[in-house]
Amino acid sequence: EILNGAFPEDFLWGGATAANQIEGAWDEDGRGPAISDYAPLWDHEAREGLDIHSMPPLNGVSRQSLQDRMEHPERYDFPKRRGIDFYHTYEQDLELMAEMGFKVFRMSISWSRIFPNGDDPEPNEAGLAFYDRVFDKCRELGIEPMVTLSHFDMPLHLGMEYDGFMSRHTVDAFATYCETVFKRYKGKVKYWMTFNEINHVYANLCTCNGVIWDEPEGGGNPYAGRWNDKFQAAHNMLVASAKACILCHQIDPDAVIGNMLCRLENYAESSKPEDQLQVLFEDHFNWFFTDVQAFGEYPYYIKRFFRDYGVDIKMEPDDLETLKEGTIDYVSISYYMTYIMRYKGKESPEPSGSLLTQIKNPHLEMTEWGWPIDPVGLRITLNHIYDRYHLPIFISENGSGIAIEPDENGRVHDDAHIEYMKGHVEQMHQAILDGVDVFGYAWWGPIDLVSSGTSEMYKRYGQIHVDLDDYGRGSGKRTRAKSFHYYKKLIGSRGRDL
Ligand code: BG6
Repeated sequence: EILNGAFPEDFLWGGATAANQIEGAWDEDGRGPAISDYAPLWDHEAREGLDIHSMPPLNGVSRQSLQDRMEHPERYDFPKRRGIDFYHTYEQDLELMAEMGFKVFRMSISWSRIFPNGDDPEPNEAGLAFYDRVFDKCRELGIEPMVTLSHFDMPLHLGMEYDGFMSRHTVDAFATYCETVFKRYKGKVKYWMTFNEINHVYANLCTCNGVIWDEPEGGGNPYAGRWNDKFQAAHNMLVASAKACILCHQIDPDAVIGNMLCRLENYAESSKPEDQLQVLFEDHFNWFFTDVQAFGEYPYYIKRFFRDYGVDIKMEPDDLETLKEGTIDYVSISYYMTYIMRYKGKESPEPSGSLLTQIKNPHLEMTEWGWPIDPVGLRITLNHIYDRYHLPIFISENGSGIAIEPDENGRVHDDAHIEYMKGHVEQMHQAILDGVDVFGYAWWGPIDLVSSGTSEMYKRYGQIHVDLDDYGRGSGKRTRAKSFHYYKKLIGSRGRDL
């Protein structure tokens, strides 16, 4: 059957979301504020004329600019506070996903819904009860919930008072939060993952992972360089991730827990060996996180970078043991695009610090948001990952944001979503034929949601269209887009009906 184009019978088809991009209800039922509640809207008019590649780190902010947003909220619009109101609409939204045939729903828990400040002595029962309702609804519909413990969702208090994951206090608070949710949802949640796109922490988007810094004197980007600090935060997150794995295994032996890496596949710009060397350098920085999470130790190559750039990580006595013990059960990645590498003339590499493509690939089309579309790259990356880790792989995000609105008859003709999905599912099947153990695929944003990068609604991913604009205007009505029927058929035919 697999040779004839089918996917395995137990393949987990579905979609992925994050609490801060869908839930809304930011101050209801005892939820505390998170950094993402202060991410302002960058609508397409504000971006007009700007090169998308040179935009400032949108959800990477300094303590000073965050302070300004807290003191003058009237100057901004914060769309993540309203999301798509999933907090109140989860039942009908999940029913629509079940109608498409979803086997898995990836979502995240909002840490500050459970612990309003991140480190409170007791959890917020109303927050815990909300996720009980969501998981129960998933189970009732035959959908497996897959839960990210931290998806760009640091409680504001831990960010402002402790610099987020710069501090070990945050590591301890995270472990307590994990223990609480593992105990509470034991038997209801089988699939967990620790940090969404953990590799953002060394790029210019570290605030999404909850690192807050002061602006440098004289202004400027607080996140440029600072390798020592970034890798200290990375170390702390890796320890926090390992602690979560250990706790998960202790509390619920039937559950499994994975990582989540924004897999950045790199191609050499030319056949010059130096360009290929640059690919190796960049790959090392991407592999670094999963190497630690899957093998439980620091890889050999990072030591040269640490030496050459004066990175001196402070570790606690049992950190290395914790990393060794707390390894992941499966690998998960988000895959959106590939990158071109050109030699930078350095013998000792440093990470590019950017997660957007700097050099255009002339062979690839781009989405309206300038993201190159590369289905073949997915097959390549799946092979690379499997070859390295020999662990089952879950594609926890893949998708394409487009500007699409219903026509005069209320129909959403999102052919670009269909094309994108078709190309990537085809290549995923090729990878399975290659022998790669891929056990599931989650489309990013099966229901329109607030963009992580720009906080727009206008950038739509959904098979389910949501009638809300960037400013929260609209009825909130859900409409089945053309891709809804496509994905339904695809899942129903186990991937044969492309
Ligand atoms: C991933 C994130 O980086 O990309 C998601 O995990 C995010 O949270 C997705 O939404 C798409 O990015 P954007 O900026 O289009 O929302």
